[in-house]
Amino acid sequence: MQHKPKRSRAIALPRAEFRARATEYLDFLAAWVQKPRQTASVVPSSRYLARLMVAQIDPTDGRVLELGGGTGVFTRAILGTGLPPEKLEVVEINPAFARGLRRHFPNVSVLETPAQIVSTAAAGEPGTYQTVVSGLPLLAMDRHVHYDILSESFRMLQPGGSFVQFTYSMRPPVSRDVIDALDLNVERAGQTVRNFPPATVFRFTRRDA
Ligand SMILES: C[S@@+](CC[C@H](N)C(=O)[O-])C[C@H]1O[C@@H](n2cnc3c(N)ncnc32)[C@H](O)[C@@H]1O
Repeated sequence: MQHKPKRSRAIALPRAEFRARATEYLDFLAAWVQKPRQTASVVPSSRYLARLMVAQIDPTDGRVLELGGGTGVFTRAILGTGLPPEKLEVVEINPAFARGLRRHFPNVSVLETPAQIVSTAAAGEPGTYQTVVSGLPLLAMDRHVHYDILSESFRMLQPGGSFVQFTYSMRPPVSRDVIDALDLNVERAGQTVRNFPPATVFRFTRRDA
């Protein structure tokens, strides 16, 4: 009797990619053990969530700011839109993550500054950025910090620009009084279960845009 070779449904990752992913997961877990509130997740976001986060980026338009770069899942997706690396700045306060981002994305500028005061370190002029992509753990921050982060972000955004944020809840991670105080609109821009935990993406824009 002839034996048919068994078909495997598993898709093997090339060894280098597997090692890179494993390192990324371990780095993330180590950061969470040291600073659980600042890191706020035990694993990096998925590429499915990353795709939703960058969907509105136009590579021919203005600069992009990423807040809370971590191990670079969103950074990779932002560059994947075709945006030139010199138009991207990534803000990350964890020095180990900042070092990793500089190593993986040598042409992207990495700012080791709290997102609350990003305008003091950003290279581009205020009012010239098309999008702020935020991976910050807003649910672990209070409303005063939300106010500072959103007002700094909108200082940097061009008219019509948007602040994109994911959260593990179905509701926006910013309270109504902060949204009203800054004269913003918020809408749901997408959702995915292909992330741990499942995530929702919200887009904030100025009401007068
Ligand atoms: C939930 S992780 C997201 C990382 C990555 N964007 C992802 O989705 O996998 C949050 C990241 O924000 C960074 N972070 C937290 N607070 C910050 C702050 N105030 N300013 C800048 N980065 C901050 C953390 O160090 C961490 O890398």
